[in-house]
Amino acid sequence: MKVLVTGGLGYIGSHTVVELLNEGYEVVVVDNLSNSSIDVYDKIKIITGKDFPFYEEDVCIEKKLDEIFSKEKPDAVIHFAAYKAVGESVEKPIMYYENNLVSTMKLCKVMKKHNCNVFVFSSSATVYGDPEVLPIKESARLSTTNPYGSTKLMNEQILKDVCISNKDFSAMILRYFNPIGAHKSGLIGENPNGIPNNLMPYIVRVATRELEILSIFGDDYDTPDGTGVRDYIHVVDLAKGHIKALEKAFQEAGVKYYNLGTGTGYSVLEMVKSFEKVNNVKVPYKIVGRRAGDIAACYADPTKAYNELGWKAEFGLEDMMRDSYNFVLKLNDEKRSNE
Ligand code: UD1
Repeated sequence: MKVLVTGGLGYIGSHTVVELLNEGYEVVVVDNLSNSSIDVYDKIKIITGKDFPFYEEDVCIEKKLDEIFSKEKPDAVIHFAAYKAVGESVEKPIMYYENNLVSTMKLCKVMKKHNCNVFVFSSSATVYGDPEVLPIKESARLSTTNPYGSTKLMNEQILKDVCISNKDFSAMILRYFNPIGAHKSGLIGENPNGIPNNLMPYIVRVATRELEILSIFGDDYDTPDGTGVRDYIHVVDLAKGHIKALEKAFQEAGVKYYNLGTGTGYSVLEMVKSFEKVNNVKVPYKIVGRRAGDIAACYADPTKAYNELGWKAEFGLEDMMRDSYNFVLKLNDEKRSNE
C-alpha cells in the first residue's frame, strides 16, 4: 500500500511517516517546507533505514498534485499540511481559509480523478470550542472561536460531503488533543519557527535558557489549581493512531470521527512540575493574565478510538517530558557543532 503524506516533514507528519515506514507501507511525502526543514527528510531515513520519494510542492497547486498522483499512484492520502497558529489566523483569516481549505479541495479533486478513495484528515479538538461536558465525546456540540479552528471544521464538512457523493470514499477525521513529545531517537520533534505559542515548546526553551521565563496564562480558572487543563498526548502515540485509522479506512467506506487523546487532563502547573522533576531542571514561571480565547479545561473521551480502531495512548507524562527535552537538547548540540 502506498500512502501520500502531505506535510510529512512537519511535527506530526514526520512521526507518522516513521510509523508508516516501520509498518511496511510505501510512503510519498509532499511538503512545501513552509514550516518544516529538509533535514527532517534525512532524519526519517536515518531512523527507519528506508528511502522514500519527497516532493517539495504546495498541495494547493492542482497541476503539481496531478503530476505526483500520475507518477506515484497512491492508495491513500494522509493530509497534515496546513497553517496552525491560532493568533496568526485571527490576523490573516483569508490566508488561513485559502491555504487550509483549497489544499483539501484540490486533494479531493485529484484523488477522484485518480480513483484514490482513502483520506485521513488531521483535525483538532479545537472543533469542540469551549466544551460543555468533560471528557469530550465525538458526538459533542461543535463550534469554533477562530479562523484556524473554522478551517478544521469546514474541512470536516467538505470530507463528509465527499463521502456522501462517493460511496466508495472513506474519510477518517482524527481530532487531536495536545500533541507533545518526540521520537525516542531525539532526531525529530517539534521545532517551531520563532517564539513558540504552545506550552510544551515554550517550557523546553525556558529550561534550555533560550527563553527567560514561562508566562502562565491565568490561575483563576475553574480547575483544581486554577491553571488550564489539557489532554497532552505523545506524538508517537498520535502517529500510531493514524496507522490504525488507515487500516480501518481501507476496510470501510464513509466518514468517521475519532478523538486521539489520552483521556487524562493535566494543568499547566502540573506540566511545569513534572518537567522539572523528570528532567532535573528549573523552569522559572510567572502568573500573568488569561490568554484571549483560552478555555479552562479540555480532555478527551478516547473510548471510541479504542473500541473501533483498537488504539489507545501508551506513553505516559514522564515519557513526554523526557522526549520533548531530549529532542531540543540534541537539536541545540547539533546547531552548536555546525557553527
Ligand atoms: C492551542 C490552540 C488550539 C490548537 C492547539 C494545537 C489556542 C487558543 N489554542 O491549544 O486551537 O489546536 O494549540 O496547536 O491557541 N499556556 C501557558 N503559557 C504559554 C503557553 C500556553 O500558560 O506560554 C497554557 C494555555 O493557557 C493552556 C495550556 O498552556 O492552558 C496549553 O496551551 P497550548 O499549548 O497553546 O495549547 P492549547 O491552547 O490547548
